[in-house]
Amino acid sequence: MTANASGLAREIGRRRTFAIISHPDAGKTTLTEKMLLYGGVIQLAGAVKAKRGRLAAVSDWMEMERERGISITTSVMQFPYRGKQMNLLDTPGHADFSEDTYRTLHAVDGAVMLLDSAKGVESQTRKLFRVCRQRSVPIFTFVNKMDRPGRDPFAHIGEVESVLEIGVFPVTWPIFRGGVFRGVYHRLTRQVYLFDAEHASSSAAKGAERPPVTLTGLDDPRLTAAVGDEGHAQLCDDIEMLEDAGDSFDHERFLAGELSPMFFGSAINNFGLEAFLETFSDWMPSPAPRISDAGRVSPTSDEFSAFVFKVQANMDRAHRDRVAFLRICSGRFEHGMMVYHVRLDREQRLAKPTQFLALERSHVAEAFAGDVIGVHDAGAFEIGDTLTAGARFQFEPIPSFAPEFFVRLLVSDPLKRKQFLKGLEQLAQEGTVHLCRPLGNRAGDLIIGAVGRLQIEVVQHRLQTEYGVKVKSEAVPYQIARWIVRRDGCPVDSKTLNSSWLKTVVLDVRDRPVALFEGEWPIRTAEKFHPELEFAETAQGVVVRGS
Ligand code: G4P
Repeated sequence: MTANASGLAREIGRRRTFAIISHPDAGKTTLTEKMLLYGGVIQLAGAVKAKRGRLAAVSDWMEMERERGISITTSVMQFPYRGKQMNLLDTPGHADFSEDTYRTLHAVDGAVMLLDSAKGVESQTRKLFRVCRQRSVPIFTFVNKMDRPGRDPFAHIGEVESVLEIGVFPVTWPIFRGGVFRGVYHRLTRQVYLFDAEHASSSAAKGAERPPVTLTGLDDPRLTAAVGDEGHAQLCDDIEMLEDAGDSFDHERFLAGELSPMFFGSAINNFGLEAFLETFSDWMPSPAPRISDAGRVSPTSDEFSAFVFKVQANMDRAHRDRVAFLRICSGRFEHGMMVYHVRLDREQRLAKPTQFLALERSHVAEAFAGDVIGVHDAGAFEIGDTLTAGARFQFEPIPSFAPEFFVRLLVSDPLKRKQFLKGLEQLAQEGTVHLCRPLGNRAGDLIIGAVGRLQIEVVQHRLQTEYGVKVKSEAVPYQIARWIVRRDGCPVDSKTLNSSWLKTVVLDVRDRPVALFEGEWPIRTAEKFHPELEFAETAQGVVVRGS
């Protein structure tokens, strides 16, 4: 291996690219902030929220976003931790939840599933988890807010195992919970991390934890001294139950996304984070090979390759630009580099490359497989585009995800219909929203669908400001969209598309047939009467079941 190649392998080997998946309010912002504190890139708690507030004030979607106080995504945050280069990709929550959130998960190599100890697995976590599961990436679980009254920790294991169908291996285990929470026991290192509410709150901003006590075993007298007889007895019983359950930690199953290491703690109190982050940085894998139509692409290949997973318009008013986010899959990016844009079959300069160190945008001179960079986009990039150092392969497409909110759009001024259609087509191609055209190209009756409710309003807002078209929305009864795919791979014929079991069939922006349903029950009926069809939740024909 040449010095250059070994340097490349070393840099890529340090990369850890991941996302936090959670339901709003579980503590994602807090955990993100604490990671940045522990990584030494911010000094004070509150910086992430303050920064988000500032960004929201200057961001686009303008008044609409400002009025609602919705934070704009910071997209990706880099921070060092124990010699590793962490790339934390943001997955927006709340109302700004959109297909972007799902797509971002295609750019990560692993995820942290954050649960609120009182609430367990919630709807948004479930959706995001399913996307991670499709890609078989390793998933860590952190049960947060242990300082508050919450569920029995065994209930969390049971829920994750039954609802998400993934094995769980608790690495740390809580000693009591809520008001009497005493700390966590690390099953692998046999260390006890003691929780001291007073110490925790006074050190919360500084990111300091109490050093753990290393025990000789569960019968170490220091354990009883620290947590009392009752705490000791309960911990021994719990650990015995876990050992009896017999699941040892299987690293292969973890890497395949089949077994999730579980940790307990309290992000706001910096508690249980050190135990979690240390294991996380040790176990979380470096960038994995990516699948392309020319086979697997190794991250350490010395040829650069990347794909676009997100395009954001007017990201920051101070910059007035569209930014395409690239996940580098192999090799090294260097400033000024020309790349081959596979879809457009032409050379392309990656202009104004930006990285997101901590919370600031900064110019990037060099980046490696695993990193995410933003580049200026004058309209050349679409989600899913592959860029290479010259090779003509395409990375596997990022699937489209079935929308969950639908409206019919009506143009007030009939003379504006042309701009309306053009605007919608472009926004649909950008991936902002799903355009559903009725079969047979009938005019009128354009239904749009989105993964998040806000996207529909964003489309209305952008049609008005960017295309000068005022539109009204009208409710439609649909709740679920499914792409119609024949199980034998043949195209679906028009007789099938007109079947009475498929009440409403539309075409998406790529002319693929999509069935709209008013609930789960009509899907079951359609499946019964059309066993030859698959009703796919993602546009590649991959069906993810359950919800
Ligand atoms: P999100 O990004 O997932 O939506 O959650 P965020 O971090 O904003 O946290 C949601 C709320 O939960 C915040 O309280 C936060 O302080 C609190 N929280 C986070 N981690 C813990 C924890 O370990 N224990 C407890 N008890 N609370 C926690 P808030 O009142 O909504 O906001 P703030 O006024 O504290 O900022």
